[in-house]
Order: sequence, then structure tokens, then C-alpha cells
Amino acid sequence: MNDDVEMIAVALLALLALPATLAEKVEFRMPGVMPSQDEAYLCTSVPINSNGEISLVGFDPIASGHTAHHMLLFGCAEPGSDLPVWDCGEMTQTEFDYPKASVCGEKPNILYAWAKDAPKLELPKGVGFKLAGETNIQHLVLQVHYMHKLDAPDYSGIRLETSDAPVEKTAATLLMVTGGEIAPKSKESFETACVVDEDVELHPFAFRVHAHTRGVSVGGWLVRESPEGVDQWNLIGTRDPQLPQMFVPVNDSSMVVSRGDMLTSRCLMDNKEDRVIRIGPTGADEMCNFYLMYWVDGDKTLRDNTCFSPGAPNYYWTSEAGLNHTPH
Ligand SMILES: *[C@@H]1O[C@H](CO)[C@@H](O)[C@H](O)[C@H]1NC(C)=O
Repeated sequence: MNDDVEMIAVALLALLALPATLAEKVEFRMPGVMPSQDEAYLCTSVPINSNGEISLVGFDPIASGHTAHHMLLFGCAEPGSDLPVWDCGEMTQTEFDYPKASVCGEKPNILYAWAKDAPKLELPKGVGFKLAGETNIQHLVLQVHYMHKLDAPDYSGIRLETSDAPVEKTAATLLMVTGGEIAPKSKESFETACVVDEDVELHPFAFRVHAHTRGVSVGGWLVRESPEGVDQWNLIGTRDPQLPQMFVPVNDSSMVVSRGDMLTSRCLMDNKEDRVIRIGPTGADEMCNFYLMYWVDGDKTLRDNTCFSPGAPNYYWTSEAGLNHTPH
């Protein structure tokens, strides 16, 4: 652009009192993949080329040809692979057409999830995820789950709405997760409880549950102790993990979580097999995850964004965390 034109543009923006920001819609898609077997989980990545911090404020799924069963968008410091496409399925045990690697090099941040027949996740007004700049999100990774093999290349993806204007409210995710195991032919409860020990004000707005085939129900609660020592349980949300595992709205969007509050989660599991099932990465193992998506005014999100417990049979709310009046 020549200088005169740029000057005029700046003057016009000043005149109209518009923020001189760059709002962009960019498409992030699979580069034409053709899995030759059912149940493929494929990932592709893109670096976020930005000089400073930007915000991700909107998502629009582009699931072409109804081939994608679900899509997840992750933010990573480094992607799990430098290849254009890789197999990033944690549950798959067979060798697929693409080399296998994890989603991110290190801990992934979930930014968005979409599934067929599941309600769309909208960020509340003024809320955005912060990317690039000094954040630990320098790459985006798109994971698509294809239920069936394809005979034509697929370009499913997401149209991302970004803004280089700072958003007032920052979105982030807390992961609540357990270890543990289930004895043969038995029911088990995997529980976590963590006290918020940071000077924050969290506004939960969505949650996602994740378990494999033995998961029956997964829930999260905010717990406050009353002066009489009676624990008050406020539901964040519960969901059947056999439904599409999407972010869905919380029970009470006016809930505020601050220092001293306790966040808890629980996965009820039913092991019908005649073997011990351990928490682990494959479909033969189980998982107990509760993702809490929240926003904060400004940018003070939780520094410690994982709440872990050893899970069953060594950790329960009533014994190890000393909680009472637990939900049925
Ligand atoms: C769900 O939220 C409402 C407020 O919107 C509250 O009155 C109710 O107790 C909550 N449900 C549970 C089970 O905590």
C-alpha cells in the first residue's frame, strides 16, 4: 500500500472513531484426506503467524459432505507432528494410513468442539481465547474424527474469527482428571476435588465430559462449606459420556468461582468385563475427564489449569477430601 493511501485510511478510521483493528475470518481445513479405514482420528496443524497477541472470538464449522463425526480445535505450543496430516487418535489401536503422534507436543488446550447433531458452542459476547504473543498457544491443531473410510478427499474444517483488538474477557479451560482402575464386573466412582488457591474470579459457561465405553455419567460441582460444616453442592453440569462429547452450556451461567471455593468432578463407570480396566490412553482403557470452560474479566486465568486425583480405589470425596452431603 502506498503511503498516501495508508494516511487516508488512518484518517478515515480516526474520523469514524473505529478501532484500527484487523478482524479476520480464516479457514482452517483438512488438506484433502482420505482415510482408508473406519474410525480414523486425523490431525493437521497451522502456526499462528502474528506479531502480537490475537483473540479467537468465533467459530463456524465447515463439515463438508457430512463425512466428519466430530472436530476438536486445540491450541499448542508445538504440534504433535510436523507432518501435514497425522493419526492423532488416542483410542485407535490399529495402524492407519497416516503416522501416529499426539495432538500437541505438550499439554493441549481445547478451544472448540463440534459434533454432528450437537448444539453449537457460542462464546459469550466479549469473550475470546488469547493466542500468539506471550501466550503458550503458537499453533492450532484441528482433529477430525471420521467414522467411516472415505473414497474422496475431505476438506472439513472451521472458519475462525480472529481479532487483534484485545477482548475484555479471556476464555480458558480447566481439566479435571483422575487416574485409577475398575475391578472386574463392578461399578466404580472416579472423583476429583481441588481448592481454588489463586486470586481469580471464574465464570463457568460450558463443560465437556470425556470417558470411553464404560462411562455412565460424568458431572462437575462447585462446593462451598457452610459455617455449620455442611457442604453445599452447586451443579456445574452432568452429561452422559455416550452422547456426543461436546462443550455444552453449564446449569447456572451466573455462577462465580473464586479463591477458597472447591471444584469437584465425578465419573460413574460400569465395568462389565472380566478384567481390571485401568485409566489409560487406548479404547481398551478408560478415561475420566471433565473440562470446565470459563471466562474471566481481563486476563487473569488459572495458572494451574489441571485438577488431578489418583482416582479409584485410592481416592474418594468422602474419605480423602473429607466432603459430606455428596450428590447421589
Ligand atoms: C441449577 O441452577 C439453578 C439456577 O439457575 C439452581 O437453582 C439449581 O439448584 C441448579 N441445580 C443444581 C442441581 O444445583
